Amino acid sequence: MTQIPTPLNPPERLLCGPGPCNVSPAALAAMQRPMLGHMDPDFAELLIEVVSLLRIAYLASGGLVLPLQATGTSGMECGLAHLLEPGDTAIVGVNGFFGRRIVEIARRVGAEVVEVQADWGEHVSNDALLAALDQHPDARLMCVVHAETSTGVQHPLAQLGAALADRDVLLMADCVTSLGGVELRFDEWGIDFAYSCSQKCVGAPPGMSPVAVSDRALARIQARTHPVPYSLDLSLLHDYWVTRPLVYHHTAPVLHIYALHEALREVAVEGLDARWMRHMDAGRYLQDQVRERGLVLLAEPDHQLPQLTAVRVPEGVDAKRVQTALLREHGIEIGGGLGPSAPSMWRIGLMGHNARRDIADRVLAALDTVLAAEPAFA
Ligand SMILES: Cc1ncc(COP(=O)(O)O)c(C=O)c1O
Repeated sequence: MTQIPTPLNPPERLLCGPGPCNVSPAALAAMQRPMLGHMDPDFAELLIEVVSLLRIAYLASGGLVLPLQATGTSGMECGLAHLLEPGDTAIVGVNGFFGRRIVEIARRVGAEVVEVQADWGEHVSNDALLAALDQHPDARLMCVVHAETSTGVQHPLAQLGAALADRDVLLMADCVTSLGGVELRFDEWGIDFAYSCSQKCVGAPPGMSPVAVSDRALARIQARTHPVPYSLDLSLLHDYWVTRPLVYHHTAPVLHIYALHEALREVAVEGLDARWMRHMDAGRYLQDQVRERGLVLLAEPDHQLPQLTAVRVPEGVDAKRVQTALLREHGIEIGGGLGPSAPSMWRIGLMGHNARRDIADRVLAALDTVLAAEPAFA
């Protein structure tokens, strides 16, 4: 007979990988509040509050803003499915795992993809993207990853938005690891579609994907000739999240929405500038300390994200053994390289509630102990 497991009792972990990070205590507590139905009038008000809080986090005043009931990948898919039609050309910056995923999904929606590539650890230059646009002036969409979590590289997004201001092409930005962690100004930078997640610098559990869409992107969507997937249809979702009386589209994940509400409230209370500064301070501190130990960072210094630090694994050190020892002996999760072509690396994230020097110190102390046991590092 199958044995019934004992009641759920997961171990404590310090989540300092590429995400998820530890949920902020307020967001976690929110999930224990009384459950409302997804059509309850009080819940309907809460949905509107979440949208308003998201507008603060994205600095997005017009267009459409809401969180999808899905993860960051669905935010990516939602944007590509709405902004591309079969045969359209999309220009995609690829300097890591997630740029590659954009290419894959854009092809699945039937687009012709022009890839502008850079090596792991480097940023995709805006000049190269603009040169690709000159060669493909009919391109409908340009996509970049603002914070490439597979390498720790930040894209110069503000400058790209400015350069595209009077061009016809729409700008889509993957903000999965940037929202709530580094400067991001949806309106001011001229972004047309941004998607993110709940589990990184926002500090909620995984499962939601906040998106922001500009007015000109909405006009493009209205003129589409092909339908979009039902579950991701932004117009139907808007009728649930924002239009009142609300119209049923799906059964919303009520407790996740509570958590997102509280996490976003914390973002607003802290203030974006203070939050960006906190991530910067913790990340730069960690990076200085890592370099002082003779370790080498993967990202080019001028484009190094604060919240995600990719560390090259020194010659002869067993990357996986170190990662496992951190987890098993110290309760600390960090990431490894992502995908078969990634160089050997560890990825340390200081995101959301964990973006603090004392958390960096805990990771560093554990890393020192584990590395001291590595023959090749001693
Ligand atoms: C930059 C980036 N884009 C997209 C994704 C996909 O998000 P999810 O795993 O929530 O689907 C991730 C996940 O880590 C990411 O870091």
